[in-house]
Amino acid sequence: MKEEFKMKAKYNQLFESFTLRSGVTLDNRLLMAPMTTQSSFENGMITTDERIYYHRRSQGVGAVITACAHVREDGKFASSPSVSSDKQIKSLAKLAQSIQSNGSKAILQIFHVGRMGNAASLRGLQPVSASAVPAPRKGAETPRELSEDEVWELVDAFGEATRRAIEAGFDGVELHGANTYLIQQFFSPHSNRRTDYWGGSLKKRMNFPIEVVKASLKAIKEHTTKPFIFGYRLSPEEIEEPGITLSDTVSLTKELKKYELDYLHISLGNIFGTSLRDKEGETPILSILQNEVGKDMPLIGVGKVNSPDDAVKAMNDFGIPLIAIGRQLIVDPDSIEKVLKDKEESIRTEILANNREDLKIPDAMWDYIKSRPGWLPIIDN
Ligand SMILES: Cc1cc2nc3c(=O)[nH]c(=O)nc-3n(C[C@H](O)[C@H](O)[C@H](O)COP(=O)(O)O)c2cc1C
Repeated sequence: MKEEFKMKAKYNQLFESFTLRSGVTLDNRLLMAPMTTQSSFENGMITTDERIYYHRRSQGVGAVITACAHVREDGKFASSPSVSSDKQIKSLAKLAQSIQSNGSKAILQIFHVGRMGNAASLRGLQPVSASAVPAPRKGAETPRELSEDEVWELVDAFGEATRRAIEAGFDGVELHGANTYLIQQFFSPHSNRRTDYWGGSLKKRMNFPIEVVKASLKAIKEHTTKPFIFGYRLSPEEIEEPGITLSDTVSLTKELKKYELDYLHISLGNIFGTSLRDKEGETPILSILQNEVGKDMPLIGVGKVNSPDDAVKAMNDFGIPLIAIGRQLIVDPDSIEKVLKDKEESIRTEILANNREDLKIPDAMWDYIKSRPGWLPIIDN
């Protein structure tokens, strides 16, 4: 806890430092959740707008997890940052510095879009995935099934992306194994209908996530000279039939805990949420996962944590050590500083359109979030 701040004692636990397995110490328990800004250049380079947006939000958090960066050009969505070639390292280094210069750790989230991509953003390419099964969403394109060799090439691409993040000076990487993208697609019985090494049973559906973890760990061992954060984000369930069940996820986490991961980041719409599949289930998902793996691997909880009281409640209810905050940091980048200064009653809960300049929300991100009514509380004034 910093001496000059006089926050309420009930929030002390949010501001205790936390040392991860790798040896990296986060100054406090709050991280900025990864959020796509749709603001990179067409070639995946970071724009000045993006750097300013991150710099504005990196004060007060222990770490910022960036928007997902694609590991290969056939894995992008519109205006996502790229970590697919060495050409991007310089640009990514500027992104890392814009976060670190405010004293926060910078974690690059890396991903491949898989079947959630479309020919328009892939410049005419057909999206690829574990199997040729489209996502059950309106307008979803049918992906091309990757050959066995191509899957190994993708595993290598995650390793290479990890190396680039290290060379760009990031403090860590997070594998995006959540929110229906490619890593999750290999784990899902909906999108993975294969019968080779990469699918056919629960165990084999774990092979892609685990091989990707191994490839990133190898890059970390070979290329780092100091401790480096390595995290994994997952979505515990899918609503599709067939789809990932909580029991599948518990099995995956038991496998993941055999590797040197610093944390598991549990992607939920509401941090206190219960099962989407088992409507009778009354135990919050985080409580179940904390019991199953939390003692072996720190969990990050996320989802509608909009106040310090929400964060304290989640830590106490579930015993989880770390909390990620997403939209609240778009709405009020000073939320955490205000808690530290005992001014939490002045935390903003809505975006006033004429405040955009102060909030440093890039134009493209503004259009993106405005196109999704209900995502953010925006008041046009
Ligand atoms: C605009 C926006 C972009 C997002 N982009 C990503 C992303 O790139 N990677 C990811 O894992 N999650 C992404 N998410 C999900 C958030 O990380 C987070 O899990 C979700 O917003 C719930 O947390 P919150 O209620 O604190 O916002 C995004 C969410 C929003 C609102």
